[in-house]
Amino acid sequence: MAHPKSSTREIPAVSHIPRHIAIIMDGNGRWAKKRHFPRVMGHKRGVETVREMVKSCIERGVGYLTLFAFSSENWRRPEEEVSFLMQLFILALEKEVSKLHQNGVRLLVIGDLSRFEPRLVELVRNSEALTANNSKLTLTIAANYGGRWDIMQAVKAMLKDRPDLAGSFGEDDLQPYLAMPYAPEPDLFIRTGGEQRISNFLLWQLAYAELYFTDVLWPDFNSVELDRAIHSYQQRERRFGRTSEQLKTHA
Ligand code: IPE
Ligand code: IPE
Ligand code: MG
Repeated sequence: MAHPKSSTREIPAVSHIPRHIAIIMDGNGRWAKKRHFPRVMGHKRGVETVREMVKSCIERGVGYLTLFAFSSENWRRPEEEVSFLMQLFILALEKEVSKLHQNGVRLLVIGDLSRFEPRLVELVRNSEALTANNSKLTLTIAANYGGRWDIMQAVKAMLKDRPDLAGSFGEDDLQPYLAMPYAPEPDLFIRTGGEQRISNFLLWQLAYAELYFTDVLWPDFNSVELDRAIHSYQQRERRFGRTSEQLKTHA
């Protein structure tokens, strides 16, 4: 199986429209609090933003959209909020998957699903199977995902398959075992909600992503805001370690 190029091994092609956008959807709780709603109302409203982002990415020709839905640290939240999020995930899958399928979206879920209830895991696997051959947009949902977990699970899986590599292995050996081997590395990372941190999202894959932070809360994020982020991305000079002068002579 051929894998997309690693940004630290080879200089990837740079396109005007990011091929892969990864988003930390943050600010749901604060959105609700501002309106004197319970926090979970913000999560519910956030699902609508997800729907709009899928549509916008298809319209703009973005090939891969990866969304951070639940981190490995989010179990630390109050039990009622965690269980609401799980129910919301189930409901959203039940309601949206056939529409995603009709629109040519391939859905994948990355993260440690072993802590999820069997009904949710089954729904996830069925949705992945149903949409496996779609190619308009690859939508990846990171659920119970952590960047450190990803790297650790990849090392373990690789050594299980290839114990001979224990003494020495390289990036190319590990790459196929990481959680998103099917996707090119994200070109653009967006975090809504005002915080400027990675919160253990895609640590490996974001090596050369352009970072965009906005104060807009996730339920208020929309296609106009997405265009702002893409516009900001288009102003960046992606050097991948080279000098600006080198880029000009190659252009
Ligand atoms: C992001 O919104 C959604 C999840 C982490 C599941 P938050 O719930 O973190 O919203 P804030 O940051 O408290 O406003
Ligand atoms: C990151 O948001 C995780 C998700 C959006 C799923 P958090 O709200 O959990 O991040 P911190 O705790 O502010 O870093
Ligand atoms: Mg938050």
